Amino acid sequence: MLLTEKEYVEWHENDTSHLARWLSASDHPAPARIVIVDDKTTADEAYRLACAGTSMLYRGDFHNARQLLQAVTRRVERTEKNSAKRKLKKAANKANNSTESGSKNLPNLFHQQRQTTAQRARILSRLLLELDIDYVSSLRRAPEVNKACIAAFGALDKEDESCVLSFRDLQGALGAAGWREKGVPIKELGVAIYPHYGVFAPTRHEYVQLLLDAPLPTVHDVAYDIGTGTGLLAIILAQRGIKQIIATDLNPRALTCAQDNFERQELANVQLQQADLFPTDAPLANLIVCNPPWLPAKPTSPLEYSVYDANSAMLKGFLQGVKSHLAQQGEVWLILSDLAEHLQLRSREALLAWIEEAGLTVKYRLDTQPKHGRSQDKTDPLYAARSSEITSLWCLQSV
Ligand SMILES: C[S@@+](CC[C@H](N)C(=O)[O-])C[C@H]1O[C@@H](n2cnc3c(N)ncnc32)[C@H](O)[C@@H]1O
Repeated sequence: MLLTEKEYVEWHENDTSHLARWLSASDHPAPARIVIVDDKTTADEAYRLACAGTSMLYRGDFHNARQLLQAVTRRVERTEKNSAKRKLKKAANKANNSTESGSKNLPNLFHQQRQTTAQRARILSRLLLELDIDYVSSLRRAPEVNKACIAAFGALDKEDESCVLSFRDLQGALGAAGWREKGVPIKELGVAIYPHYGVFAPTRHEYVQLLLDAPLPTVHDVAYDIGTGTGLLAIILAQRGIKQIIATDLNPRALTCAQDNFERQELANVQLQQADLFPTDAPLANLIVCNPPWLPAKPTSPLEYSVYDANSAMLKGFLQGVKSHLAQQGEVWLILSDLAEHLQLRSREALLAWIEEAGLTVKYRLDTQPKHGRSQDKTDPLYAARSSEITSLWCLQSV
């Protein structure tokens, strides 16, 4: 991702060749074709260039650049509506009528929808801006973006003179900085959680109540939180009185973020480890919680690793390994949405078979129905699947 690999972008302007560090939150390659645009560029022109694969480096007024991007977005949405979306809907109607052939279409429909979203992201990422080495923009009326960019992309090497990134990525960094400052209120817990850039933000947190309602195992001295993200589940366990909690994540940004949240909550009994699933050198656990990425599909950018789990690798790895980390009478609380089942990307039978193969049995299950915007959007071609989604806490124990 952007912090590890250095890439450069080149363009011609005023008869001079320019080179700058390329930054992309979604790992888009450095653009090959760049033209200079400004306040005189019309939305139709920008839209045409973006669709033709030409990137546009903006020189002019920051707010005009933002308006130009909004206007291009409206054009992209209109085109989607008139073409791809109509096709998707046609297929969805077939699927929603749940005829045999229609229901077979759901995985295709899901993948088509992801492709449409990815294509939209590519088009909208073609409006670029240049920032100096301290992340200062020379565009007129540009806001202060330095702090948000450092949090998102890290400080730049002094050997580079400037960087170029998409306006959209800058907006993402500014949005993340806003959340980090204000926090996401978790009303069930009476606290706010402060997500960092690139870390799963618990904006849909219907599962919090499940973790508050589930009866704790009789002995509950040690718990693990696998894939801790912002640290939310570890904070719930600490509030419920678990004495020692060990939280892991693969993503270094998540570890920094969780540490920040533990400090804000003044929790001294949570240790963090960067690990692929389970901690090392840790006592056996009475309780192991995990809220894995819930859709079995390939992540297409670093920001998607919290949602998509290619071939259910994390889920299967977690189930296969968890028993050897459990103390006697220990419990596993697996938080899992069944959206993948409604989309026919994973079957309930497969999940139950993985649980059984892992030497585990289901002690009980608590369910909740998500109420987030997407599950209520009747114009979404996947509405039937999304509105049927149930998120469960599966309490598992050793056979
Ligand atoms: C859906 S998010 C859940 C975050 C947090 N537990 C919550 O409930 O808000 C999944 C998390 O698992 C982490 N993750 C994915 N694969 C992992 C692995 N193999 N080992 C450890 N963590 C992993 C991701 O980085 C992400 O933070």
